[in-house]
Amino acid sequence: MDAIETIMTTRAIRRYTDDPVTDEEIQTCLRAAQQGPSGGNVQPQQYVVLTEAEPKAAVAEWYRTAFDRYERSLPDPTEFRDEAQAASWRRTRDASRHLADHLQDAPAVVLFLQPLIPWTPSDDQGEMDIGRLDASVYPAVQNFCLAARALGIGTAVTTVIRIHTAEVFEALGIPDGRFEIAALVPMGRPAGNFGVAPRKPAAAVTHWNRWGDKRRD
Ligand SMILES: Cc1cc2nc3c(=O)[nH]c(=O)nc-3n(C[C@H](O)[C@H](O)[C@H](O)COP(=O)(O)O)c2cc1C
Repeated sequence: MDAIETIMTTRAIRRYTDDPVTDEEIQTCLRAAQQGPSGGNVQPQQYVVLTEAEPKAAVAEWYRTAFDRYERSLPDPTEFRDEAQAASWRRTRDASRHLADHLQDAPAVVLFLQPLIPWTPSDDQGEMDIGRLDASVYPAVQNFCLAARALGIGTAVTTVIRIHTAEVFEALGIPDGRFEIAALVPMGRPAGNFGVAPRKPAAAVTHWNRWGDKRRD
C-alpha cells in the first residue's frame, strides 16, 4: 500500500471477523514497531503477544472490569455541538463497549510494556526535563498499527487496562514492579471497513513561523 494511504486509513478498529491473524503477520508488525524512534535509541519496550485462548480470556476479563468502571465515570453527554458530534460520540462508546465485551475473541492481543526506570537526567543545575519515557514507546505502538493496517489487519490503541495492571501481570507472570503498561492493542480483520476518520483540519491547528499565523488548507 501507499504509505500515505496506509496512514490516512488507520483508525481504531474494535470489531473483528473470525479470520485468523498469523504469527508471521504479528512478527512483521513487531519488526515495524521496533523501527520506531526512541530517546537516545534506548528502545525501552517489551511486547507480550497473546494468541492462546486462556491468557486472552484472563486479560479480557480484567479489561472488561476496567472498562465497566471507566464507563461509569463518563459524563452524561447531553451537550453536543450538533447531532453529527453526538452520533460520533455514541459510535465510539458503542464500539468501545463491544470491544470490552469481546476482547477474548480478538485473534491476537499485544501488550506494550515500558520499564519503570529513572528517566530524568540531572547536572549541577538540577533535573532536566527531556520528556517522558512513554514518548519513546508510543512511536512503536503506532508503527505496529500502521504495519497491521498495511496487511489488512485492524487494531485499536487502548489503555484502560492500566486500572488492573497488577492483576494482568499476575495472570501473565510478568515480574512485579519492573514495568507498566503503555498500551493494549487487540488485532483482527475488520468486521467493517477501513476509512479516513474524522479529524480537525490540520490548518486549524497549525501556526506558521509565529503563533497565530494560520493558513487555509
Ligand atoms: C492513549 C490512548 C488510549 C486509548 N484508550 C482506549 C481504551 O482504553 N479503550 C478503547 O476502546 N479505545 C481507546 N483508545 C482509542 C480512541 O478512543 C480512538 O483512538 C479515538 O476515538 C479515535 O478513533 P478513530 O481513529 O477511529 O477516529 C485510546 C487511544 C489512545 C491514543
